[in-house]
Amino acid sequence: MSAERATAILNAAPRPSIGPHLLSVDDLGPDGIAEVLRVAEAFAEVERRAIPKVPTLRGRVVATLFFEESTRTRLSFETAAKRLSSDVLSFSVSNSSVKKGESLRDTVETIEAMGIDGLIVRHPSSGAPHQVARWADRAHVINAGDGWHEHPTQALLDCFTVRQVLAERAGTEPEGTACFEGLRILILGDVRHSRVARSEILAYSALGARVTLAAPGSLLPPSLEGWPVTVAADLDTALAEADVVSLLRLQAERGSGAFVPSLREYTANWGLTRRRVDLLAERAIVTHPGPMVRGVEISGDVADLPITVATRQVTNGVAIRMAVLFLLLGTDGSIGAGVPESETGGAGTTIGALRG
Ligand code: MLT
Repeated sequence: MSAERATAILNAAPRPSIGPHLLSVDDLGPDGIAEVLRVAEAFAEVERRAIPKVPTLRGRVVATLFFEESTRTRLSFETAAKRLSSDVLSFSVSNSSVKKGESLRDTVETIEAMGIDGLIVRHPSSGAPHQVARWADRAHVINAGDGWHEHPTQALLDCFTVRQVLAERAGTEPEGTACFEGLRILILGDVRHSRVARSEILAYSALGARVTLAAPGSLLPPSLEGWPVTVAADLDTALAEADVVSLLRLQAERGSGAFVPSLREYTANWGLTRRRVDLLAERAIVTHPGPMVRGVEISGDVADLPITVATRQVTNGVAIRMAVLFLLLGTDGSIGAGVPESETGGAGTTIGALRG
């Protein structure tokens, strides 16, 4: 995408808004997903500039509230918020008053009382960000992963990455969502405990892709009623048919170890080994949300093959999170959006009133 086109997208007004919160991929629907991907493409262009920073959210304050470990998601959100020029507060439970017994509600109300505009929440309990959204008076809440439930921005960046790879191969610009129509997505691994799987199923199927799950019976959800998926009868056949293989980590912190006889057996039956990669079609793309556990769900050499796009997913995560923050917190089509800070003389931009 050219710099002019990126600036035009970011300065367009009025722009379709999403929100007021992003708790589930279902909050977006196909049009919302398409809009996030479109705006993220413009931010990916901003990221390639010498100064990858825009003044769009100057004066806004975003807080990351992580009640669970994270490397890439937290850093990615914080990088995204900083590239939009917002102030960023980082809350981690290990050095907070939660250790002294403060409740989630009191923690949220305390943080909101400081005039926070965006709360990015990760929590081991499914539904915690929904609860936070009910308590929040003014802040937009973004789910950065809740228990086994959802991880919407991960699914969005996975879609973005797949579209980007497909466009590169076709020699075109990544645009629209037609490339997902009929695409065969194979989600392989610990589906039962995976919030990534749930968000991916919603996102890919909303865009018209066909989703198949492959996992030992013990690592499938107890019921798949109402899920727009099929379950692979045979892993080798499913691999041969897949356009995209989304690999999942065994969620040991959610007790998945008890659901498999041994790691060695799991890898032998379900891991993406070199032998299984040879079954894949040449066009296949392998995604992994990270962290990868080499030697368990993916063998070390497969992780380093060009078909495995995990590092590209991390890079794209920043553009996707910039897009989500921008669409939730800065939807007035502000003059200056998309203009590098250096070109505005640091004057920044004024963002209109918050919705909701
Ligand atoms: C998550 O937080 O769910 C990760 O992105 C995926 C994982 O931990 O396996």
